[in-house]
Amino acid sequence: MNDDAPMSEHAHVEPTSPEAASVPATPVGTPVLEARTVVKTFHGGDGGDVRVLEGASLRVERGEMVAIIGASGAGKSTFLHVMGALERPTEGEVLLDGAPVAALDDEALASLRNRKVGFVFQFHHLLKEFSAVENVMMPLRIAGRSVGEARRRAEELLERVGLMHRQHHRPSELSGGEQQRTAVARALAMQPILLLADEPSGNLDHHHAESLHDLFAELAREMRLGLVVVTHNRALAGRADRVLLLENGRLDDNSTNEGAV
Ligand SMILES: Nc1ncnc2c1ncn2[C@@H]1O[C@H](COP(=O)(O)OP(=O)(O)OP(=O)(O)O)[C@@H](O)[C@H]1O
Ligand SMILES: [Mg+2]
Repeated sequence: MNDDAPMSEHAHVEPTSPEAASVPATPVGTPVLEARTVVKTFHGGDGGDVRVLEGASLRVERGEMVAIIGASGAGKSTFLHVMGALERPTEGEVLLDGAPVAALDDEALASLRNRKVGFVFQFHHLLKEFSAVENVMMPLRIAGRSVGEARRRAEELLERVGLMHRQHHRPSELSGGEQQRTAVARALAMQPILLLADEPSGNLDHHHAESLHDLFAELAREMRLGLVVVTHNRALAGRADRVLLLENGRLDDNSTNEGAV
């Protein structure tokens, strides 16, 4: 279809407050993420293959926080990248909001990822020459939102993460905890339904880590996000609804085979 319909109706469909963002876009009960028996093999430079994931399964519902733990090198980051459609699985299936990722070409996949998934990494990856509010606006501007709309949304999110008073500061003028909060606000800018975090508090002192953990748990609940967090931090894992161990390339999610419990 050559769609020349005015955008204005659609542009206002999305709620403007973070709390209102909880309106589900898909039928009730559709998991935000379903990874089924994911295998991931990297082709090594010396000709040898590295089989990192041997069958990892996970199902995440809206409003649910899942922690993934496991030894260094176990494949946690790799699994997170596959779940977030940054990488395709070698075998197995990933569904985001009910949509099978394998069916999408690279462009459609990037679009789905941008709309549905937010990422927070151990290092904030904020753009150093831009202020906090400009960093949060960035995904919205890239998606074609007006400056006014992007700024309103960014300010709402900075307010939510407790950083309105720092909105004009650049990353180098923020504490480690504030940088991560800004990264969380940026990850939420496009109102994702799935937030993936890889060691988000790995770089923070105890105090900042605790307050970031509070924020994650609150956001998952309030915005009904599915939240998957990879962490070595016991306190953060302790906040999760479920803690799952990735070991020997495998992760078994009991919620995917309820009948067996
Ligand atoms: N692009 C790649 N090419 C080849 N091997 C890779 C690639 N990415 C990761 N690996 C290998 O896959 C394994 C798992 O890596 P991954 O980063 O997923 O581990 P992790 O569980 O996140 O570890 P950590 O806790 O140290 O972050 C490692 O042995 C790593 O060397
Ligand atoms: Mg890792």
